[in-house]
Amino acid sequence: MKKTRQEDYEEIIISHRKIEEINLQPFIAAKELVKDFEIGDYIVRAVDHLSIEISEHEYVAIIGSSGAGKTTLVHILGGLETATKGDTFISHINVSHMEQEMLATFRIFNVGIVFQNYNLISSLTALENIMFPMQLCGVKHEECESRAKELLKIIGLAERSEHLPFQLSAGEQQRVAVARALANDPPIIIADEPTANLDKKNAEYIGELFENFRTEGKTIIVATHDEKLIKHAHRILIMEEGKIIEDKRINEISFKKENIEIEMEQE
Ligand SMILES: Nc1ncnc2c1ncn2[C@@H]1O[C@H](COP(=O)(O)OP(=O)(O)O)[C@@H](O)[C@H]1O
Ligand SMILES: [Mg+2]
Repeated sequence: MKKTRQEDYEEIIISHRKIEEINLQPFIAAKELVKDFEIGDYIVRAVDHLSIEISEHEYVAIIGSSGAGKTTLVHILGGLETATKGDTFISHINVSHMEQEMLATFRIFNVGIVFQNYNLISSLTALENIMFPMQLCGVKHEECESRAKELLKIIGLAERSEHLPFQLSAGEQQRVAVARALANDPPIIIADEPTANLDKKNAEYIGELFENFRTEGKTIIVATHDEKLIKHAHRILIMEEGKIIEDKRINEISFKKENIEIEMEQE
């Protein structure tokens, strides 16, 4: 019988983690990460021997000028791209040597990703776009549909379920993209300038959604220049030429679990 994605995923976890070692690994980390892009005879080093550890439940904003390497770094930490050298840990697991298909399966269970340009599938309705990642995980159709409807309600677009992306405003498309990122209830949310193409009101709405994720204890990594997203962060990283040149904690890590406020101890 053909294996389901869930079974594939469980096998990946078993083969990649030695239970006794797993909690010794950071939740998310880059160790001596290098990413080179080759263009003809040139090599562009987008990430340059960068090391960082991110705790579970932490909300990290990455800022830095254009070309600093923010997009490349968040793509690697989200499992969308692999590094040229160095190690990447996601959900305590070293994904550096996972083959592409395995990494894709690992990613859909662990990471929700929001892009600057929404990246919705143009031929699918809002509802179908949100259902898509759940279908990839082998969730039953009715269950996908009811969870997608619930997510549409949460983002205030219950009335737009049958709209195609081109029939939605920029702000609405990005809200659908955020709902899609949440479809499999991943512990990690990665976002790349999610409010850069939005007007103030829609950007504020996205900022509030991210603030809710923080309160719920999701681990959030967002490349952004938007104060509306930065102000909720626990920590700000400043990037320049593929390196982190500053690492500032601005808030203690806290989140709510069953309505109880939890503060994490930090060294
Ligand atoms: N796919 C790619 N091919 C070639 N060069 C790339 C690619 N992606 C990024 N780069 C280069 O890597 C550097 C970092 O880019 P990027 O990660 O997009 O930075 P940022 O998001 O901070 O603007 C830039 O010099 C950029 O031109
Ligand atoms: Mg970028």
